[in-house]
Amino acid sequence: RLREGLDIPDWFTYPEIVTELRRTYPPRYAQGFTVFFTGLSGSGKSTLANALLVKLMEVGGRPVSLLDGDIVRTHLSSELGFSKEHRDLNVSRIGFVASEITKNRGIAICAPIAPYTATRREVRQMIEAVGGFVEIHVATPLSICEARDRKGLYAKARAGLIKDFTGIDDPYEEPESPDLKLDTTDASPEAIVQLILLKLEALGYMP
Ligand code: PPS
Repeated sequence: RLREGLDIPDWFTYPEIVTELRRTYPPRYAQGFTVFFTGLSGSGKSTLANALLVKLMEVGGRPVSLLDGDIVRTHLSSELGFSKEHRDLNVSRIGFVASEITKNRGIAICAPIAPYTATRREVRQMIEAVGGFVEIHVATPLSICEARDRKGLYAKARAGLIKDFTGIDDPYEEPESPDLKLDTTDASPEAIVQLILLKLEALGYMP
């Protein structure tokens, strides 16, 4: 039965099959993976991503890199705006860098808004070809994000001073089947990060 689904010659002995299994199917905890947060501005993506970064660095074993929305826009996508085309390009770039990290058995944590389903799907496909991909929808409601308005951008968007603001006059396509859906309204970042770590453990990514 070990041979099922494996493209191996009939004459392989048991130890050879085991060797082949090890070569072809490294366990998830030995693979690289990407944790991809998506959600509205002010939903808590960056806070969770940073808290997760610290926890995963404490666990050790694999290098961890954070590709936060604002940081990426400062360094990697500094020439881009917020049209659909530019957002897609931005998210694809993040996906490409994350796939390189994942391919080399690192952990990439991404935290862009990533408002479009098709682009998120493309990123998932690119990364799943080389390792693991875990999508986390930070589903804090718009009313809460707007009430927080940490950067004062929602007020500006409502006043018409910023155009094409996600959730106000630009779309956010909700993920249909994220690996995890979280709401930061009533829970502390620490408690939520524990949930994420449990999920990563359940999926086999933790040693
Ligand atoms: S995207 O859609 O994934 O390319 O967006 P992202 O690179 O994550 O950038 C989102 C941050 O940019 C600020 N900002 C805007 N967000 C949404 N819409 C518009 N028009 C906009 N203009 C500036 C905003 O601070 C976002 O930060 P976060 O961290 O998400 O709150």
